[in-house]
Amino acid sequence: MSRLEAEDLYKVFGRRPDEAVEKLRRGADREELRADGTTAAVIDASFTVEPGQIFVVMGLSGSGKSTLLRMLNGLLEPTAGHVRFDGEDLTQLSPRELREVRSKKISMVFQHFALFPHRSVLENAAYGLEVQGVPRAEREKRAHEALELAGLKGWEKSFPDELSGGMQQRVGLARALATDADLLLMDESFSALDPLIRRDMQDQLLELQKTLKKTIVFITHDLNEAMRLGDRIAVMRDGRIVQIGTAEDILVTPANDYVASFTQDVDRARVLTAGAIMSEPEQGYDPSDAPATVTAGTPIIDLFTPCSTSGVAVAVTGEDGELAGVVTRARLLAVLGETITAQDSAPDAENDGAAPGLVKQDAVPAQRGEEDGPVEKVNADA
Ligand SMILES: Nc1ncnc2c1ncn2[C@@H]1O[C@H](COP(=O)(O)OP(=O)(O)O)[C@@H](O)[C@H]1O
Ligand SMILES: [Mg+2]
Repeated sequence: MSRLEAEDLYKVFGRRPDEAVEKLRRGADREELRADGTTAAVIDASFTVEPGQIFVVMGLSGSGKSTLLRMLNGLLEPTAGHVRFDGEDLTQLSPRELREVRSKKISMVFQHFALFPHRSVLENAAYGLEVQGVPRAEREKRAHEALELAGLKGWEKSFPDELSGGMQQRVGLARALATDADLLLMDESFSALDPLIRRDMQDQLLELQKTLKKTIVFITHDLNEAMRLGDRIAVMRDGRIVQIGTAEDILVTPANDYVASFTQDVDRARVLTAGAIMSEPEQGYDPSDAPATVTAGTPIIDLFTPCSTSGVAVAVTGEDGELAGVVTRARLLAVLGETITAQDSAPDAENDGAAPGLVKQDAVPAQRGEEDGPVEKVNADA
């Protein structure tokens, strides 16, 4: 069972929200409703989050992220649709039951992990558990563990002003993750931090998550952050989720030009893996000639050196240790500079090992075979 499930969620602010939902179901967009003085904050959002996953919701300011998050913990009632937490429909709970779920099972983490200046680091880290009524010995034990995971062992008795800004943020993160709640909702939690501390926090979150295995919904307007953190990413635009997928899905097969335009600035070399860009080996390819053999999960940044020292493609092995594909130097260079279209991303048996047909999003895709002048859209039967 999914830990969290959103099904056809809508949130409309303003007059006659139910009528607005009907219009939206018939295909109206935000702009049309705005003319009636209503705001469609979230339109037809559906997704599932599995236990232990980090699910990232990414979108520009105003795209509906915070509204979506508030519906997930029952702070906002959906205009239509359902939210299920461990199979239980939050929209069906009484206010009392909802408060119970919210205080015990779901934790909302906002920006700024403000610490209490007159409490020790340990007491600060244990604060979330204290609020939940966990006995002292137990909460201190867990706070100790969380602090150790956050790289703060030895600082337990110190006070916040004895720590650097970055370390204070980590205490706050340890506090947030040390709670009993297994669902954490994080709304732009790192957005106000300067870039170095922010990166450190992202690393800490991933590190803590390895042990704590919370289910996390993380909101950000930064695609690089989304790709670093997200097991899966939902991209929102004007209230709608326009794509859900892994970082690689979004980079390699963006759902539309809007998503593709976001991916221009992403550090592909760290996000894409050998397995995502590999192609079939040429006839007669001998892995023992390869300058390197890597697993499918290797980030392509690690392929530059071997690819630059040899004309032979790097060998990529699958989970069984057998040869699964190759990465050529031409392919490596091409994926760094270009956005690959869907039909080109799949390994191609006829590929001769040269750069496959990569096309820019704004270029006219070249159809193999029939060339009847420019085509708007690639369509096999057109
Ligand atoms: N309580 C509210 N009343 C009216 N409009 C709202 C309310 N909350 C959010 N909105 C509107 O809904 C849209 C989505 O807002 P929000 O969910 O905060 O987006 P994000 O978090 O992505 O910046 C915006 O147009 C915002 O102005
Ligand atoms: Mg917001």
